[in-house]
Amino acid sequence: MARHDAPSPVHLDDYRPPVYLVDRVDLRFSLYEHLTRVVARMSMRRNGQQDGRDLALNGRDLELVRILKNGRRLEEGAYEVSTEGLLFTNPGENFELEIETIIHPEKNSSLEGLYKTGGNFCTQCEAEGFRKLTYYPDRPDVLARFSTTIEADATNYPVLLSNGNPVESGALENGRHFARWEDPFPKPSYLFALVAGRLACVEDFYLTASGRKVRLQIYVEEHNLDKCEHAMKSLQAAMRWDEQRFGREYDLDIYMIVAVDDFNMGAMENKGLNIFNSKFVLARPETASDQDFIDIESVVGHEYFHNWSGNRVTCRDWFQLTLKEGLTVFRDQEFTADLNSRGLKRIQDVNLLRNRQFAEDAGPMAHAIQPRAYMEINNFYTATVYNKGAEVIRMIYSLLGEQRFRRGMDLYFASHDGEAATTEDFVRAMEDATGLQLKQFRRWYSQAGTPRLSVATHYEPDADCYHVTLCQQRPAVMDAAGWAPLHIPVRLGLIDAEGQDMPLRLEGEERAAGCERVLELKTEKQTFRFAGVKTQPVLSVLRDFSAPVELVYEQPDEELAFLMANDSDAFNRWDAGQRLARAIMLRRLRGAAEQRSVARDLFLGALETMLADSTLDSALVAETIRLPSENELAGNFAEIDVDGIHRVHSEFAREIAVYLHDALHAACERHAGVSPEDEGANAMASRSLYNACLNYLVLAEDEQGRQNALQRLRHSRNMTEQIGALRALVHAGCDEAKLASEEFEKRWIDEPLVMDKWLTVQATAPLPDTVQQVARLLEHTCFDLHNPNRVRSLLGAFGEANPYGFHARDGSGYHLITDQVISLNRLNPSTAARLLSPLTRWRKYDSGRRALMRAELQRIAGLEDLSRNLYELVSRSLADTASKEMT
Ligand code: TRP
Ligand code: ZN
Repeated sequence: MARHDAPSPVHLDDYRPPVYLVDRVDLRFSLYEHLTRVVARMSMRRNGQQDGRDLALNGRDLELVRILKNGRRLEEGAYEVSTEGLLFTNPGENFELEIETIIHPEKNSSLEGLYKTGGNFCTQCEAEGFRKLTYYPDRPDVLARFSTTIEADATNYPVLLSNGNPVESGALENGRHFARWEDPFPKPSYLFALVAGRLACVEDFYLTASGRKVRLQIYVEEHNLDKCEHAMKSLQAAMRWDEQRFGREYDLDIYMIVAVDDFNMGAMENKGLNIFNSKFVLARPETASDQDFIDIESVVGHEYFHNWSGNRVTCRDWFQLTLKEGLTVFRDQEFTADLNSRGLKRIQDVNLLRNRQFAEDAGPMAHAIQPRAYMEINNFYTATVYNKGAEVIRMIYSLLGEQRFRRGMDLYFASHDGEAATTEDFVRAMEDATGLQLKQFRRWYSQAGTPRLSVATHYEPDADCYHVTLCQQRPAVMDAAGWAPLHIPVRLGLIDAEGQDMPLRLEGEERAAGCERVLELKTEKQTFRFAGVKTQPVLSVLRDFSAPVELVYEQPDEELAFLMANDSDAFNRWDAGQRLARAIMLRRLRGAAEQRSVARDLFLGALETMLADSTLDSALVAETIRLPSENELAGNFAEIDVDGIHRVHSEFAREIAVYLHDALHAACERHAGVSPEDEGANAMASRSLYNACLNYLVLAEDEQGRQNALQRLRHSRNMTEQIGALRALVHAGCDEAKLASEEFEKRWIDEPLVMDKWLTVQATAPLPDTVQQVARLLEHTCFDLHNPNRVRSLLGAFGEANPYGFHARDGSGYHLITDQVISLNRLNPSTAARLLSPLTRWRKYDSGRRALMRAELQRIAGLEDLSRNLYELVSRSLADTASKEMT
């Protein structure tokens, strides 16, 4: 690689506690258009338990003005300056350090550290952005009390915010003003935040369980004031929920949310001052889809829940990231499940896991939820750490049960409040509170890859005995030396011919204990024997997706169709349909296609019955009629057959559309008349089912379907309906698509978040000329490489959610993405790295595509000033052994 100073990895095993602690830090920011002056005053104290004597402060891209120690200016020889920070040799036990630096937020396009967005100043410090503000021990195990003074022009920056409570403000000379904030809770630097700008505010309040009144404020640009109501309601609901479900109360007198347009991720949980991607705040039914409403509720909840799982108890180091993220995703999933439909939520979460996390876990970036080494921590904010991490918490929850889990959580918060903890601390709290053993379970934290779970059954009618044999197999990314069997909770039930759950009794037990069990598989192979089984049952296994595994079980087609109709577990009812559809498509791909297969008739028959049954939850019916994605099917191949998968997938979709034509029309008619303002569960379910049906009808070249779509697009006042119609027309590639897209564009050109949807619909169209269309859209006035929402909507969606388009045989998709990754390398390295990830999985494709993808990776490897983010991805991807030793 062209880079000479190849970055070296950080290892978990090298963790050492800090040599110096910071008791207090007082920050002063003087904001100007051409520079920002930062003065940091820190009370340093040597950490007695440590051997070292030297003080290392992190700092990047800083212009050092001066350093005072105990009020006296230090000579330049008194410390060492490098590109990564400052080093003081044996500076003593306790002292005050004052450091003045100059930084340039107006030139910062990385959206990390202090930067400008929409004319305002804001910060993003997680994970290691604080070191771009000033020299500081920028590591999460140094917790300090912060006070912050911000000074800026009063006209351009009337609002000045930071963490904690406002304590002072006033006018200064030259039209400037200041505000001072104090945060009483010690915190690591990554939770620091500052905002300065022209912002309007929606205000409400919340009364805590113990009767304290908390001010709630949401800051947005003035023209967005009418789009904050849903976020405010979500915040109040989250505060209530965390009190009721986890006994957690808010701890400051004020809670602020600021929405910004340029943001690398979803949102950030800075203490008392959350900063949000505006996409997860702003919503009205006219401009936001139902999914946006649900997402806003979930992200607002997520950041709020971090106040306990992340802020009050934080992480010792970044290898512990899943301690706060896995746990907080689990908490936000439960929040959404409790407030909306539990079954639907589980289906959507598992879909995400299968589509994204499984692919990540099978590629060169595969890592355990607690990695052992990284080069660039920003590359590890992954579906694995977040979503598989949440699955690991969920398994503990299943193994312990509601009450014991709650006791474990209470103990965890009580014993680590105000501390920087490890995943080991969490698991131990769960053990200590319950007396249960999780020794083997801990392997989920250190082993990468998706385990395979295979199932075999055997019924002995003479003995009334039913055997279930479970086997776990090592994921391909793990070598035998690094792998040991996992502790896997397998929730299951047995269903009789009438569709009733049977009482379950294992051999040796006296009585049946309910109709559902969580079996615990701890060895590679284990047989569970159920007694007193009088008739042949149908097995419903891995209910509620009780473990993040790949289920390998060729259950007879008839049984899957039976489960679709009868399983009492909503997730498994849906998953039976997914398994049947997947089996049909995979058989066709392997050339085993009978023209009129029994499986197909079973599947279509089940869908037809469901569509006609108005007693079912329409949202679940909508999920059931959606086929497993092409990406998900790709997971079943050692070498992915891009064209074959696309062909079989789209043929099967057309077949469904033709066969179910009447049922689809009837469902559309039933679900057409929903009020555009109604955000209730039933209204959302109806819109979801309508859109799923409309997709098929337009695909089947149904004239009436197309006209309906066009009418909706033109006249609906609801974004879910409009975007559903647009997607149906554009993805089917029909004649009306161009007109539809132009009309939509005209109507929404001034709403960037709506234009994002327009970009995504076009980028994900599974059509042969989509690459060219994406290339054209790069030139569109609404597109801007500086804005991560635009990048994700157009390029991220194309690379991740359009396998047929992206993997165009001539390599044009690869080339297009690589060009943009190269432009982003300097502009915004963490966004560049995200965009590159589909290319890193080149080994999975046929030799032609493999060579083309590899060549693009090598083009990136040859860059002069390759960022650490891209370097890590490219080097792992090109390495001969998929750098297994690194995780
Ligand atoms: N901690 C944030 C969350 O999950 C996400 C986050 C991490 C982030 N790093 C970031 C957000 C960088 C923006 C930029 O809630
Ligand atoms: Zn988080």
